[in-house]
Amino acid sequence: MIRMKKIIEQYVTDEKHYLDRRAFIKKSAGLGIGLASFSAFPSLAEGVAGGGLLDQVIPTKYGKELTPHTFKQITNYNNFYEFGTGKRDPAKNAHSLKPKPWHIQVSGECAKPGNYDLEDFIAPYQLQERIYRFRCVEAWSMVIPWVGVPLAEVIKTFEPTSKAKYVVFKTLVDKQQMPGQKRPILNWPYIEGLSIAEAMNPLSFLAVGLYGKTLPNQNGAPLRLVVPWKYGFKNIKSIVSIEFHEQMPINTWQDQASKEYGFYANVNPNVDHPRWSQARERVIGRGSFFSPEKRKTEMFNGYGDEVAHLYAGLDLTKNF
Ligand code: MTE
Repeated sequence: MIRMKKIIEQYVTDEKHYLDRRAFIKKSAGLGIGLASFSAFPSLAEGVAGGGLLDQVIPTKYGKELTPHTFKQITNYNNFYEFGTGKRDPAKNAHSLKPKPWHIQVSGECAKPGNYDLEDFIAPYQLQERIYRFRCVEAWSMVIPWVGVPLAEVIKTFEPTSKAKYVVFKTLVDKQQMPGQKRPILNWPYIEGLSIAEAMNPLSFLAVGLYGKTLPNQNGAPLRLVVPWKYGFKNIKSIVSIEFHEQMPINTWQDQASKEYGFYANVNPNVDHPRWSQARERVIGRGSFFSPEKRKTEMFNGYGDEVAHLYAGLDLTKNF
């Protein structure tokens, strides 16, 4: 009981810092100050475990109407099989991951391949905050305040050739840092892909942080993909490789069970998973144990205005 009270207090504290910060950002934007330096808020750094504060993050229009989940919720209910298959395993085990130094290999059909230190890789772009809905294929959801850069800007830098039809992302393979890879639960590395048009869509995002701080290891430090209109498994974590391909790749979950998981993985309440309905979703941490809060799942997770055109003419029951 005492423990529970402590946890609840912690949630409230995280949210209070976050709301204070957002109020500050809004005020400074109004005053024309522009870029807000989060290092002005040491209390935020003390309030939560994990990463360092990110400097020079600008607010955006994305998700202003949404109420984010708490830092505790976002960092303690995870899927990251490199650290175990339980929802609490990543938070318990991901301390063995070393997100610094970190390198990103860019290769394939592009004019500017290379091996980049993460800091050089990210430095050319303005960090921004985006609050996105997150819908897992397992029919649960959260709202997450990410910090990162638009994927389209990053892709343009590497000048993909006309043969580049897909962007393929791979996670680190290192059994010491990622002990879950000692077992063949999945075919390592974890792989995901997007068509070039999907990757260039303004919603596609490469996250380096959440709640204004660098990504906690369990959320995919130091760099992960965020594509909010797709099921969570497209959001590949701890990326070390970005490749431009001519052929559509086979992503990890498709490789595991192609009848259950496809390449597109668009959130779609009308196409059920073979083993469960996708019509509704359980909102993590809301409602009670016996009566969890549920909401209707929205087509493309509510981002249809931005992305539906990408799939015009495609049969989404076959291309799931
Ligand atoms: N990336 C890697 N490398 N390994 C994984 O097991 N799980 C995916 C995705 N990215 C996964 C991954 C799944 S199934 C989901 S739902 C999301 O990460 C979970 O992200 P979160 O833990 O930050 O909520």
